[in-house]
Amino acid sequence: MKTDEAVSLVKAKLPEKRFNHSLRVAETAVKLAEIYDGDKDKAELAGILHDYSKYDDLGSMYQMVRQYDLDSDLLSYGSEILHGPVCAVIMENQFGVTDEEVLLAIKNHTTGRAQMSKTEKLVFIADYIEPGRQTPGVEEIRDLAYNQGSLDNTIYEISKRTVLYLITKDITVYNATIACLNYYNYSDERVKDD
Ligand SMILES: [Fe+2]
Ligand SMILES: [Fe+2]
Repeated sequence: MKTDEAVSLVKAKLPEKRFNHSLRVAETAVKLAEIYDGDKDKAELAGILHDYSKYDDLGSMYQMVRQYDLDSDLLSYGSEILHGPVCAVIMENQFGVTDEEVLLAIKNHTTGRAQMSKTEKLVFIADYIEPGRQTPGVEEIRDLAYNQGSLDNTIYEISKRTVLYLITKDITVYNATIACLNYYNYSDERVKDD
């Protein structure tokens, strides 16, 4: 799928605020791709498309989980966890997106996972640090991503903050999020400062 086709698709589907977020994620992912020698085209396409299913009806999302044989644990979660995996199967099966890295980056953008590909990492981080995000402490994550030279360290810090937040809210943590946290805690690339 070409960039302008992806932009039109997302523009027609999402509210303006979410559409603008999608464009900022794409721009941020491209910026990170330049720093970390990633594939700019894949990062951009996945960034534009990643939230396409954000506001889909939950019932239809559960139906997609069953139809495409996705992880059945997803059936215990809401749209926050489901919209990535559901978007990836929609892009693959309804819109002919074939690139595996783009599909994985869309699928795992919210939770991350262990052993992410470069494009997955770029989109996961871009979704957290795009300029519209005002999460407390986001500046520290931006500094890690842009100035400290380690994607894996950035991913670990994002996962840690996400898990801590979910726990304080008594929200169940999806297994891929925990796997991501543990994997990037022990990743070789991660620079330990203790
Ligand atoms: Fe999302
Ligand atoms: Fe997003």
